[in-house]
This record gives sequence, structure tokens and C-alpha cells, in this order.
Amino acid sequence: MKFVTAIGTLLVSASVVSAFAPQQNFRASSSLSADLFVDKSADTVRDSVSDYYGKTLQSSSDLKTNACCTAHVANPTVNAAIKNIHPEVIKKYYGCGFCTPDLLDGMTVLDLGCGAGRDVYIASQLVGPNGRVIGVDMTAEQLETAREYQSYHAEKFGYDNVEFHQGLIEELDKIESLKDGSVDIIISNCVINLCPDKEAVLKSCHRLLREGGELYFSDVYSNHRVPQSLRDDEVLWGECLSGALYWNDFHNLGKACGFKDPRLVEDAPITVNNKDVQDLIEREGHGDLEFFSATYRLMKLDCLEPFCEDYGQAVIYKGTIPRAESGWALDDHHYMETGKVFPVCGNTYNMLKETRFAEHFEFIGDFSKHYGIFDGCGTSIPYKSAGTNSDSGASSGGGCC
Ligand SMILES: C[S@@+](CC[C@H](N)C(=O)[O-])C[C@H]1O[C@@H](n2cnc3c(N)ncnc32)[C@H](O)[C@@H]1O
Repeated sequence: MKFVTAIGTLLVSASVVSAFAPQQNFRASSSLSADLFVDKSADTVRDSVSDYYGKTLQSSSDLKTNACCTAHVANPTVNAAIKNIHPEVIKKYYGCGFCTPDLLDGMTVLDLGCGAGRDVYIASQLVGPNGRVIGVDMTAEQLETAREYQSYHAEKFGYDNVEFHQGLIEELDKIESLKDGSVDIIISNCVINLCPDKEAVLKSCHRLLREGGELYFSDVYSNHRVPQSLRDDEVLWGECLSGALYWNDFHNLGKACGFKDPRLVEDAPITVNNKDVQDLIEREGHGDLEFFSATYRLMKLDCLEPFCEDYGQAVIYKGTIPRAESGWALDDHHYMETGKVFPVCGNTYNMLKETRFAEHFEFIGDFSKHYGIFDGCGTSIPYKSAGTNSDSGASSGGGCC
């Protein structure tokens, strides 16, 4: 069986699983309702997760599998930024991807579940002295490390543009400096799957982002809903798999929270090299369950439509985004070569025209004539790596939305 996961972070042995109290009260629902995303024993979940990150783990080498080392390759700028970060911060990195979108200079960035601050300090360098980065995490020990090296990084970068807050990312309204519409980009690395109330998180993100801003984050998803029997299992909770959202529930939740057209940027399977977990899943009859690491961009744009509609529009990429001279990708199915006319749906047109990307494109057409649904606007599983573990017939490559 090839068992794939996404987050890859909390893959732990049975000995550390005891740090996670069994969650016996997860509710499942066949419809998209708040019940599906809100766990009754939310406080227990958070306490267990916080204990794990604050006390059980001392460094990423304490993780018991290779799952936190995803295949994502950072671009040279991010790699150079990582080299400037203090080793103690790097040591406590537990993420599952890279969530640093292009064109961050001067932006206000919020990192949800920032941990010891690796991504905050990457973003700090990318936004530069005129930008600002705010990290939020619930675990005191993680934030202690992040803060301990704040002056080290300020000295190294030549400016201090970061701040850290302890708190729940479901309760961002309690952080006074976070005003509605004040954030350009929200990033998050392997955190939202751990949150019992994902709806509260996404709603806050939508509220805090300015129009044209985006939530750009890496997390864990599954090819179908994680069954109740597995959600109730303490090993799987400890393995950080139980909180993964079925990809289409996530798409629908994102839409319900105001992000009308979630775009997948990249995805990767993660092999769980843990026999106990694999055996358990097989035993429960869910051998076709797959997990994925995926990075999404969710743009806050009121003008987006629920589906990709065709208005006969196109864009031409100018080749002006740094490190993307020959072409640039908005998402996993919009790689636009420099200088080439690239037909787009109305939503993609607006994602480029009404955001920080606008100056890097020429825009052809308008919304005066509608030609119907944009060709390829589909609803099949979007992950390229899907279907390797089952005969589900999942298609490779996503539709337009
Ligand atoms: C897998 S670690 C990732 C940390 C960091 N993003 C990184 O890449 O190293 C998950 C982090 O999310 C934090 N976390 C989990 N649930 C949270 C919540 N509901 N509110 C705030 N922080 C949370 C944990 O304390 C932990 O630091």
C-alpha cells in the first residue's frame, strides 16, 4: 500500500502519542456544516498539540518519520534567506512546505501558527524594511525561541520589522494590533489541520485581509473524508492526520468563508513510513485513504464568481516578476510564458488585474460579453499525485477552478 500524507510533521511513535489525548467526540457530518469543522473537545486538542510542540519536540530531528521533509524546493531567494536565520530557530521548524508567494516587498504579512519563527524571519527579509511581519502561535515555548532571536535577526537584516503574539488563530480578534483589512498576505505552514475550528480561522483570515490580499498556505488534505473511526484514534491524531480536510470540503469551506475561488499552487504526496499507522488504516478498511501536502492561494476579491466564466479575455505576462523572467505561475494550471497571449477566465483576469500582480501583465478584453463556462472548469480531485493508491479514477490535473 502506498499511503500518502501531506503535513508530514507530527509523525510520532506510539511513545509520544500519549501526549495527545484521545479525541472521542469528533463529529462527522454528511453535509457541509459547521459541525464538520468544529470539534467538541477543542480545548483538549489544543492543549495536546501545544504540549507536543512546546514540550515533547525539541527539534525537527525528534520527529519520528521523514514526512516533514517534503519534496518542495525553495527558490534561491528563499534559500538565501534561510541561510541568514539562526540555527536554533531552524532547529525548531516543523512545517511542511514553503508559503512565501512572490512580490512581498513592502507587504504586511501575518504568519498563523508561526512556531519558532522560521517563516516569519524568511518573510521579514522578503518584505524588507518597509514591510511588517506578525507571527501568532499558541505555544509559549515556541514563541520564546522566536523572540529570543529577534534582536539577532534585526542586527543581521539591518532592521526589525517583526512582532510575535501568543494566541489562538481561531481568536485573532483578541490581538489588538490586528485590524480588519490591515493585512496584505497571510501565510501558514502546517497549522490549520491542527485547528479544531477551521471555519473560525478562515473567516478571520478573510476579515483581516485587505481587498486583493491573499491567504497563501501549506497544509494537509485527504482524498476523502477521514472516517470517524480514524478521527477517533489517538495514534492518528498524534500523527496529525485526523485533522486533515477532505480537499472538496476545504474548497467549499473556503468559499463559504468568502474565498470564492481557491487556487491550488502545488501538491505532493508524503509517504508515511509508519507500519502501525498503515496497519491501522488497512484494518479499518480505509487503505484507499490518501493524504497530500498542498499549498493554496485564496484571494480576497469580492468580484470573483463561484465558477470560472468565459468572457473571451486574455493576459500577457511581461516577464517582470523577479526570478520569473521567462514565465510565471499563478497556480498549478496557470503558467504564463513571457510575451505570450494567454486566454483566461474572468476570475483569473481579476486575480491578476485587481491585485499586486497587475503591473506585470497586459490585459486584453473586458466583461462586456459572456461566452459561458470557461473550458476545463472542473470539480475532480485537483492533486496531480492523486489516484496512485486507488482505482478511484481521479483525474490528473485540475479544472479551471
Ligand atoms: C506543525 S507546527 C508548524 C510551526 C511553524 N509554522 C513551522 O513551520 O515551523 C504547528 C504550530 O501551530 C501551532 N498551533 C496549532 N494549533 C494552533 C492554534 N489553534 N492557534 C495557534 N497556534 C496553533 C502550534 O503551537 C505549533 O507551533
